[in-house]
Amino acid sequence: MRRLLSFVVLLCGFSLAVATQAPCIELNDGNKMPMVALGTGRGTASETAPADEVSKAVYWAIEAGYRHIDTAAIYYDEPEVGQGIREAINNNLVTREELFITTKLWSDKHRQNEVVPALKESLQKLGLDYVDLYLIHFPVAVKEDGSYDDVDYLETWRGMEEARALGLTRSIGVSNFNASQVDRIIANSRVWPAVNEIEVNPTLTQEALVTHCQELGVAVMAFSPFGFLVSRSRPDSPPPRVDDPILVQMANKYNKSTGQIVLRYLIERGLVPIPKSVNKKRLAQNIDLFDFSLTPEEVQTISRFNKNKRVIDFVDWKDYPHFPYGDY
Ligand SMILES: NC(=O)c1ccc[n+]([C@@H]2O[C@H](COP(=O)([O-])OP(=O)(O)OC[C@H]3O[C@@H](n4cnc5c(N)ncnc54)[C@H](OP(=O)(O)O)[C@@H]3O)[C@@H](O)[C@H]2O)c1
Repeated sequence: MRRLLSFVVLLCGFSLAVATQAPCIELNDGNKMPMVALGTGRGTASETAPADEVSKAVYWAIEAGYRHIDTAAIYYDEPEVGQGIREAINNNLVTREELFITTKLWSDKHRQNEVVPALKESLQKLGLDYVDLYLIHFPVAVKEDGSYDDVDYLETWRGMEEARALGLTRSIGVSNFNASQVDRIIANSRVWPAVNEIEVNPTLTQEALVTHCQELGVAVMAFSPFGFLVSRSRPDSPPPRVDDPILVQMANKYNKSTGQIVLRYLIERGLVPIPKSVNKKRLAQNIDLFDFSLTPEEVQTISRFNKNKRVIDFVDWKDYPHFPYGDY
């Protein structure tokens, strides 16, 4: 039986007056998820980055109106994310109940009996009693040294269901799963994934997978939402870049930046973008998306940039069983 996601866009029910807030969508388990998340991956990846880079970004984001923060065990920044959250709560910017925190299980903890301990470790680092959403980060299981480990993600999902039943997470979901992997979980489980977090941007529009998930009632979060628009652009990167004439024209029309046009494009498609920024001005801009909308023709125009080209390819694992991307 298919559960259709109705894309009910709801007010999240928050009362504080802040600069901008994203509306919420209702997940298939009844929980509400804010439609823009702050990305925190890469924040601590650079050895030269200041130690408080992520905690400051999280604090500024909450100040600017973000209520959804995306982290993961493998980002090694859960303590800093937790610190930013704590400071925001202590300064009365927000309450814990008003926040939606997502973290993820890494691939070296895929055995059923490893899931709950891994989430408890993440909670301890975050300084939280529960997260709002816990995701299997990637369908492939590996050993600590990165070599393949023979664990079926259905076994991992049993552990995710246990974590939810224990109240350690309100919702559970997956990340980087393809359509048949989502179907296989649904066909074999009592609790359906509430979310599939995948890469979506103008050069990787993922129309088929997004539609498949949305028709099943599985909400889609869009990581690397800027695609090749931003700083990682290399000479051989496909368009659009930040100064693309088509995007600049739309940006001028709506008095927004080209980055905001791309984020709004994802919102128009019912997706939950996860823009990452550690820059106070840019992160505020990245949630200022709710006073304009694109026309269906403009959405189609942006979709035509699609080249099925990924920013994040996990290519080292391409020969492992359960590797999700069919394009390698
Ligand atoms: N589930 C998964 O497997 C997975 C994989 C990858 C990422 N993610 C999640 O998705 C998040 C976002 O992905 P991402 O970090 O790869 O890519 P992204 O958000 O598309 O791009 C981040 C880059 O864009 C820059 N930027 C941010 N806002 C900008 C703006 N308004 N104008 C120009 N440049 C801007 C950032 O620099 P500044 O910081 O200097 O602003 C940073 O260099 C991650 O942080 C993580 O939380 C999940």
